[in-house]
Amino acid sequence: MFRQWLHDTLARLYPGHLFDVLVPPDPAMGDYSTNIAFVAAKAAKKNPRDAAQEVCDALMREGAEMLERCEVAGPGFVNVFLKDVYLQHQLGEASISNLGQNKRVIVEYSSPNIAKPMHIGHLRSTIIGDALANVYAAIGYDVVRWNFIGDWGTQFGKLIAAYKRWKDDDALREHPIREMLRLYVKFHDEMKTHPELEREGQEEFRKLEEGDIENGDIWMRFRELSLGEFDRMYERLHIGLKGAVIHGESDYEAELKPLIERLVAQGLATESEGALIVDLSENNLPPALLRKSDGATLYLTRDLASLEDRIKKYAPAKILYVVANQQALHFEQLFAVKDRLKLGSTEAVHVKFGMVLGEDGKKLATREGKVIALEEVLDEAVRRAADVVKGKNPELADADVQRIANTVAVGALKYNDLRQHPHSDIVFDWDAMLDLGGNSGPYLQYAYARLSGILRNAGDVADVAGDRSLLTHPTERALLRHLLDFGYAVAQCAHLYALNGLALYLYQLAELANRYYEQVRINDDDNGARKAVRLMLVRTVMERLKTGLELLGMEALERI
Ligand code: ARG
Repeated sequence: MFRQWLHDTLARLYPGHLFDVLVPPDPAMGDYSTNIAFVAAKAAKKNPRDAAQEVCDALMREGAEMLERCEVAGPGFVNVFLKDVYLQHQLGEASISNLGQNKRVIVEYSSPNIAKPMHIGHLRSTIIGDALANVYAAIGYDVVRWNFIGDWGTQFGKLIAAYKRWKDDDALREHPIREMLRLYVKFHDEMKTHPELEREGQEEFRKLEEGDIENGDIWMRFRELSLGEFDRMYERLHIGLKGAVIHGESDYEAELKPLIERLVAQGLATESEGALIVDLSENNLPPALLRKSDGATLYLTRDLASLEDRIKKYAPAKILYVVANQQALHFEQLFAVKDRLKLGSTEAVHVKFGMVLGEDGKKLATREGKVIALEEVLDEAVRRAADVVKGKNPELADADVQRIANTVAVGALKYNDLRQHPHSDIVFDWDAMLDLGGNSGPYLQYAYARLSGILRNAGDVADVAGDRSLLTHPTERALLRHLLDFGYAVAQCAHLYALNGLALYLYQLAELANRYYEQVRINDDDNGARKAVRLMLVRTVMERLKTGLELLGMEALERI
């Protein structure tokens, strides 16, 4: 991995400095460029151009077999040019390094709430978390995927009460989540005129907590039905939660009392107005509420028990929580309490993400202002993707259109999310998301399909190795150079907890590939050795595209 080598070498030669390594937009400015000389010169009170010349000399000494030349540019930039033969020889080298050896990471994502539809926020968590888990696995981590189901809390008392009053078991069988939602909404509506229902709900929850069999059975049924629906969503979204650890908040009920007692014994938790809190003023945070004055425990308490459990059972190097921005305070408090509990060296990270906005720039919602159910979004994406696929292939059979449209729709949704930094809000602009000519998932899938077409039309030559020194066209050199950065792009995603770098990398790879076969008629080449090596380049680009798309949770398509 050249880029990593360059970075590591500079860091070793000039220790303690923060610097950038970039790929200049214009290849005349080098294959890579760095600002290290400015940083080093400033510290040593030297002229940056002199410092840059020293950097160049050192790099030429250490990287002689890779570097063609190194230039000092402008006020002190260092521009590095690679040898063609080095680039040619790197073609096809497997390039993802094993950074995670012997390390484990728990990636928690999705984490929907039972009895409610998965919504668009869960979609973001699911898409980002799944891709992050893939990336960590690719760089050699032992990855534990975790789904923390919201299945406990006073709202289930209300739901049980509503069920007892107005149950419709046929509806529950047929459309479980819709029916549970109906019951819950009805309960809240009725509460407006019958405030005593509030107590009824509390009472049902108390019974559930105390192990009442009837309530336990009803709750269990709601839970199973909900999990079944979630699985259906994961399948439709091609999400790899197979083998994931699925724990509900309810699983930690029994641990809450001893945990709280321990916190009190250690002097970490204190009584305040009847409630039990951990004072976090030292962290400039509001107090963490562990138990309300009525004795009820909270989301935070269950999260704390779960965090302790994850650390004790799995001893991970890191735990990532892929959860919306809105819960930032919750996680700051959780992690602050974790630090006080001295649970070892596990690093806990809140991987935050922003909202989903409609084309009007407002939070995406139904016409009545309610949250949009994930399934509706998915249905719409498939409908629109089918139009795109039919537009490209009017002769395709309906079943094939459907199959391809599913893959295109899922790819469009995921790419639209991942191409942006998770912290930013994302916009749902259907036309842009599905634009075969723009920076979209379908564009990448289409690029792959076109490369497949070239291989299909190539005949037997496709499997011959060919002579790499024949790859001299500027578009070939640009592809070779870009291929070199694949492993770096993947590793950066894990480092930054963001997938947009890999998405951009793949988009650029697809653009370069498109430019390549527009300028070079690969299959028309009469030079057999050159045609063979060109096809090898095409195959390598396809492999990287495919691996990259799969890391993002997308599928490559042989045809669109
Ligand atoms: N169930 C929660 C929700 O839908 C998300 C859970 C996030 N994970 C956690 N460990 N608190 O809002």
